[in-house]
Amino acid sequence: MRPRSQLLCLALFLACCFVYENLRTPEAERRAAAPTPASSTPPPLRHAVASAALPPLTPPRVSPRLSSPPLPSPLSPSRLGSPPPPPLCTSVQCAAPLGREEPSWAQLSFQPRIDWSRGGVRGDCVAGELEYILPKYCAHHPRRAAAGGWPSEERLRRIDVHASRLPQASLAAVARLLANRTLLLMGDSVMEQFYNALQCYLRQEGLEQHNSAEFLAFIARTAPLWRMGKRKKPPKLPQQARGGMRMMYARVTTMQPDEVQAALGTADVVVLNWGLHYQRMGQYLDDLKAAFAVLEEYAKRPGKAVVFQETGAQHFKSSDPRGFTTGEYEKRDKSTDGQCTCRPIEDVNVNLRNQVLHTALASGEFPHIRLLPFYSLTRPRWRWHFGNCTHRPNGWNYETCCDCTHFCYSPAMWHAHLYNLEQQLLQTSLASPTT
Ligand SMILES: *[C@@H]1O[C@H](CO)[C@@H](O)[C@H](O)[C@H]1NC(C)=O
Ligand SMILES: *[C@@H]1O[C@H](CO)[C@@H](O)[C@H](O)[C@H]1NC(C)=O
Repeated sequence: MRPRSQLLCLALFLACCFVYENLRTPEAERRAAAPTPASSTPPPLRHAVASAALPPLTPPRVSPRLSSPPLPSPLSPSRLGSPPPPPLCTSVQCAAPLGREEPSWAQLSFQPRIDWSRGGVRGDCVAGELEYILPKYCAHHPRRAAAGGWPSEERLRRIDVHASRLPQASLAAVARLLANRTLLLMGDSVMEQFYNALQCYLRQEGLEQHNSAEFLAFIARTAPLWRMGKRKKPPKLPQQARGGMRMMYARVTTMQPDEVQAALGTADVVVLNWGLHYQRMGQYLDDLKAAFAVLEEYAKRPGKAVVFQETGAQHFKSSDPRGFTTGEYEKRDKSTDGQCTCRPIEDVNVNLRNQVLHTALASGEFPHIRLLPFYSLTRPRWRWHFGNCTHRPNGWNYETCCDCTHFCYSPAMWHAHLYNLEQQLLQTSLASPTT
């Protein structure tokens, strides 16, 4: 228990520092729309140039101590499960309005469109895909160039009050656990955003290595496993880390049995989500159970792990005939897509999916499959979506793009997610390599 309470103290201390820095009285909340008072100059929207003059980061960028492993527990990993997730609101009746907790100087509007030609930026929203974050945030030695018009990493941490309060882990902490293992992230485009963040930190933390001929040959050898399936898409974006971790991403949306087999033929550790692309919950439950039966057998083996990530929240403006508003994509208000705005509201439809997931895992039949929380991390982030994303160079919904699904880049969010991932991996046989 001791390291746990130390950890708690440290987390509390950091949280207090943070709250002190960002204390906002109810009165301050009411003034949130007012112009920034002179006494609380926001960190610059520009790049690193100005950061020398700024106060130190609160909390520290990544604290390695926050992610040191707990002492081995006498309990077997399978009995050590995480506390049961909080009950989910799955109907419009309980859909709770969300707050507006970011500092008043944060620029998180949904209009006008993201400026794609100038780096995928609108105010403090930076499109989270690799091509947009790599030149801004991922350098091993942060660039001093005054190229810019985008928020500094420190500014984003100050704005992201939701995640900056949470414990953070570096990619190095996860890579240590996964030395000489192959990590596969598998899921939809939100999972790809997570993968892109991992690629970013691989470089930023100086872990990036050239892909060896051996690794490339391995990918070529395993590609036929993926070509058997419907989608015929082998994993992409392979990367190798110092310490021997290898990682890649497979874009999948729904469960295909041959892709589950291909994943297990390719990776030691699978971080997985299917969710947003399921509309029928009965089908979702059947597919999860079928896949989990196979994945459980794999996850039992020493040196292997399967981690299923919850589906992240969406925050669409809806036009429900009953007069309710929800964050559901399915009920999004297309008539007002011309003025895309995301809504501060609980997404009951995503919750339905996560409830199915929790139900499947609560059956107790799959004790080795770990649950990676993601809903509570994304629930309050209604202001952190792309919003008006028209005229995107890739042409996706060119004139109508209104995105309340994908997330603007936030280092605090992804490092908090990495911390959660590390915590789940510590519950697997990877944490005790002697077995
Ligand atoms: C990883 O593999 C390398 C080369 O085979 C070996 O030297 C190293 O000890 C391995 N690391 C771990 C943690 O197993
Ligand atoms: C997006 O913003 C542009 C101006 O930048 C505006 O003309 C267009 O109507 C907006 N579209 C949506 C879908 O919000």
